[in-house]
Amino acid sequence: MSLAQFSPDLMARTAPLYERVRSVIPSIEWPAFAGDIDAILELKKSRDAVILAHNYQTPEIFHCVADIVGDSLALAREAMKTDAAVILLAGVHFMAETAKLLNPSKRVLIPDLRAGCSLAESITAADVRALRQRHPGVPIVTYVNTSAAVKAESDICCTSGNARKIVESLGVPKVIMLPDEYLAQNLARETGVEIITWAGHCEVHERFSARDVRQLRDGHPGLVVLAHPECPPEVVAEADFAGSTAAMIDYVGRERPRRVALMTECSMSDNVAVQHPEIEFVRPCNLCPHMKRITLPGIRHALATMQHEVTIDPAVAAPARRAVERMLEA
Ligand code: 13P
Ligand code: SF4
Repeated sequence: MSLAQFSPDLMARTAPLYERVRSVIPSIEWPAFAGDIDAILELKKSRDAVILAHNYQTPEIFHCVADIVGDSLALAREAMKTDAAVILLAGVHFMAETAKLLNPSKRVLIPDLRAGCSLAESITAADVRALRQRHPGVPIVTYVNTSAAVKAESDICCTSGNARKIVESLGVPKVIMLPDEYLAQNLARETGVEIITWAGHCEVHERFSARDVRQLRDGHPGLVVLAHPECPPEVVAEADFAGSTAAMIDYVGRERPRRVALMTECSMSDNVAVQHPEIEFVRPCNLCPHMKRITLPGIRHALATMQHEVTIDPAVAAPARRAVERMLEA
């Protein structure tokens, strides 16, 4: 938007929203966001739409247009509670698919169909069937970062927020857990359960090393390091705490460290920093290119045109839904 279009009216309407993000968005950049934000707020009303945003979305999305924010588990839970006719998922494709699985009669939109995930792309339904044949009787726990077709072949889903609870709820000494090798290794160490896994990795978290953590600590005395369990086990071992994106946010709110580094996607530090101006966030910046495909112009366009609607083959949807529901009921 040009400055000429940034009218006094628009400035007045969006001023309270700018107050939320002024610590992370310079005022000179606000005119570039204000018009889309204003239009999105109107479109949400006219479309009876709700926006669910993952913790990795950028602050102008997370703090200014989202109705519900959270980790994968919270977004799945909240998707079930909404009365809105339309759910727009500001996140990646597997999250939109999960919302659709749980809300088959609602329209679920994702602004960019290319917003994928390296974990979801690492495994197919045929791979899961082959593993089941190779390990008869061993339950298959599938991370939500997978396609509906992969979920359909599994016994139960999990997220990073409930993986331990789900694995322990099965009460067996051995499980297959797909497709994140590092999450599985971190969990095997935590639970003592034998875990057969798959060589899938998150392209954002696999880049962190134990050396990165040590260098950050050397340069920032008193630093508290929180890591996502998709990080390699050597990183989790060096960290003070490991947990889902929501668990990391809760840790910061509860413990209020003076200095903290979140070993995860870097927009999350911006989003949490907005709520904790007194905390110094050391930012080891790894961006998720898939999450970053979701933008304000993309969200505006999606609501204006009702694209792209997420659909799932009914033959796949029924068993995939069962795996997600089992997770939510566990
Ligand atoms: P959370 O469920 O912890 O939000 O993680 C989702 C994700 O994609 C992490 O990379
Ligand atoms: Fe997938 Fe990693 Fe991006 Fe999360 S951060 S969506 S796991 S690629």
